[in-house]
This record gives sequence, C-alpha cells and structure tokens, in this order.
Amino acid sequence: MDQLLITGGRPLKGAVKVSGAKNATLPAMAATVLTEGRHIIRNVPLLRDVKTMDRLLVHMGMDVRFENSTMIITNRGVRNFEAPYDLVKTMRASILVLGPMIARYGRARVSLPGGCAIGARPVNLHLMGLEKMGARIELNQGYIEARASRLHGADIYFDIPTVTGTENLMMAASLAKGVTRIENAAREPEVVDLAEALNNMGARIYGAGESIINIEGVDELNPLNHTVIPDRIETGTFIVAAAITGGEIEILNARAEHLEAVITKLEETGVACDTSARGLRAYKRSPIQARDLKTMPYPGFPTDMQAQFMALMCLAEGTSVIRETIFENRFMHVAELKRMGADITIEGSIATVKGVKALKGAPVMATDLRASASLVLAGLAAEGETLVDRIYHLDRGYERLDDKLKTLGARIERIKR
Ligand code: EPZ
Repeated sequence: MDQLLITGGRPLKGAVKVSGAKNATLPAMAATVLTEGRHIIRNVPLLRDVKTMDRLLVHMGMDVRFENSTMIITNRGVRNFEAPYDLVKTMRASILVLGPMIARYGRARVSLPGGCAIGARPVNLHLMGLEKMGARIELNQGYIEARASRLHGADIYFDIPTVTGTENLMMAASLAKGVTRIENAAREPEVVDLAEALNNMGARIYGAGESIINIEGVDELNPLNHTVIPDRIETGTFIVAAAITGGEIEILNARAEHLEAVITKLEETGVACDTSARGLRAYKRSPIQARDLKTMPYPGFPTDMQAQFMALMCLAEGTSVIRETIFENRFMHVAELKRMGADITIEGSIATVKGVKALKGAPVMATDLRASASLVLAGLAAEGETLVDRIYHLDRGYERLDDKLKTLGARIERIKR
C-alpha cells in the first residue's frame, strides 16, 4: 500500500486546476445503462472509484474507453445483470446501476453494498422507491434481486434526503410509464448535474436542485453527451490547504456557487475566498479563529468537508464544536490528528477541538477518503515529517493530489509499497 511522506511548514502558492467531480461522474456512468449507443462523458477524473465503476460496466457487457479525461462508453445491450459483491464492496456507489438496470431491462441482481468505515450506509430508501414504482424486490444471500415488467410513476417521500437514492430513482423514473414525484429529494449540485445529463438524453426531469423533483417517464432515451461539473469537495480541500499553510492558491475551474456554505463558514474563521476570472483565490486573511460547525444536507455544510475543516480548527485560536449529523462514524481522523498533537475530544456525534499552537509530524493511517485528506492537510501544516499510510483511500476521490500539491510547493513524496 502506497504511503505519502510530507514535510510540513511550507506555505502553498500557485494555481491548480480542480478535476471533474467524482460524485457527478459515477451517476453519469450509471446512466449509460439506460440506453444503447455510444455515450461520451467529459472532464472525468482519473480515480480508483471511477475505475471500479468502469470495471462494473465492462462486467455488465459495456465497452469503456478512457483517455485525456474523456470517457466513451458503448452500450450494445447489457449481457450480465449482476453487480457482484467483490466489486460493490469496494465502492458503494455501484448501487447506482440498480435503478437503470430495472428501468431498461426489467431485471437486476446487485450485491447489497454493505457498510463502510464511516457508517452502515443502508439503501432501504432506494429499494422503497423502486418498489413503489412496481419493482418486485427480494434480498437473497446478500444480493438485491429485482424484477419489473415496466416501472410506473409513483409518489415517493424520502425521510432522509439521500443523494444516490435521489439519483437512482431519477434515472429509473426517466423510463417509467407516467409521472414520478420525489419529495425531500437531495439538492446537491451532483443531483442537478445528473438531471441535466438525463434531460440532454431526452428525459423530462423538473425541479432538480429543489426538494421536490417531478419526472415524466419517456419510452426511450438518446445516448449521453455530458461534461461533469468540477469537484466542489476537492475545491474546498484546496481552500483549506491555502489557509492551513498560510499560502495563497488560485483554484482554476472552481465553481464558488457550489460551495456557498463552505466558503461562508471558512470566511468566518479568517480564510479569504475571492472569485477570480479563472475560478477561486484562497488565502489566510487573518489568524484563523475557531468556529462551530454542523454538517447538513445540501445546501448546508457538506459532511465531505467536515474532516478537512477539523484539520484547520486544530490550529485555530479558540475552541470549535463540530457536529456530524449525516454519518454515524465519521470521526476516524480524530485519533490520527491527536497523534500529531491535536487537542480533540469526542462525545457521540460531537467533536470539541481546542486549537493548539502547532502540530507535530507523525506516522498516521488513512481510514476513509475524506479522513485521508484531513491528514494530508495536517501534515502540510505540521512541524517535521508526516507519513500517511493506506493512501489508496485518498486515491479513491482525489486525482493525483500529491502531484498537484507538489506544483504548489509542498514537500510531498509518494512511497510505492
Ligand atoms: C453520497 O453518498 C456521496 N457519495 C457521499 O460522498 C456523501 O458523503 C453523501 O452522499 C452525503 O452527502 C456519492 O455521491 C457517490 P446518502 P450516499 O444516501 O448517497 C442515510 C465521498 O466522500 N440513508 O445521501 O451514499 C445514510 O445512512 C462520499 O465522496 C438511509 O438511511 O449518502 C446517511 O446517514 C462519502 N437509507 C444519510 O442517509 C438510504 O436508503 C445520507 O446518505 C440511503 C441513505
């Protein structure tokens, strides 16, 4: 397993281009199941999770070509309707092929994703919605077995605004007979991006980005031709990198409007995020002050930025109370940050962070995607060397992050193991 060796203490300076959004790419790839033909997706990041989805689509019978951030997916008909456990267990987002497979082919056998480091990650809301649309679903030996003649429209209410649940049902409803209404839908920019991609395929989706989405089913769709939005979480990570190292970074291609809650909160702490002609310019305006945080569904502060924000609060003046409301176990970066001298206590879903003067480099271990980003950020600011182990977690969601940080002046080396 590769490691990252970071020598901290250098302000990061320069410009870096943010890659396409992982969480917009994965649903767009799943949407190619909805119709045969030659699909094109641009601005695709080179990530482990994208490779996993690529392997899943090939397993199902698709042909996938990928170069220079452009993916060509040729669907000549799905031949294998099973998403096997050994693929799904490495990436929960594999569940996104379930809705399209049932809608287009009337059958699917998808492994239950199982939990992951940050939580149980149930899919009951996905299944509830599909059943309301007429799918017959059984759970056998850890697999979701689904059948449907033709899905029909339904009124679906999510008691939690699930992101991939909204995306799965939006895709399924696109080919259903009649109108589907999703209430308490997720409002993330990635949901809006998928709706735009589907509408360009000929779907009739109204209201994506709001809490109520209406989908008028059509009989068939045209191939996808879509450019995914920039990754707002990668953008937020670079904003924190500028602040925590006392540098200044211009983030090219960044979309400030996807990060309002993050930018507002960071500016409260003393971080500056100015829009520039090419994207966003981030730097530390004044000594970083502690601020409290509560993660919320979009448009609130995203859970995927909680660990990165916590790294910044470790070195802030004052005490920050951070409340994680989305996932039940998303504080695994805390033990590792404490190895670096951070002063953090956890009580249930609340972490209390007392700012310290400095962090000290140490060997630490990544446990999940955003926790690993938090450890890299802490290492960039710490005195001395930090060795981050198991960085395959980082590679799931960040395209060449070490190379990008190196161009900004970071002393960071990837150690191949
Ligand atoms: C998406 O996961 C993202 N992944 C996650 O990003 C992100 O953290 C999460 O949304 C929240 O924003 C992708 O888009 C591929 P949810 P998802 O369904 O869809 C509960 C990253 O770092 N829930 O919105 O799986 C669930 O337990 C990843 O890039 C149910 O109870 O998240 C959680 O508490 C990590 N039943 C809450 O809803 C369901 O059927 C939100 O989960 C579905 C979800």
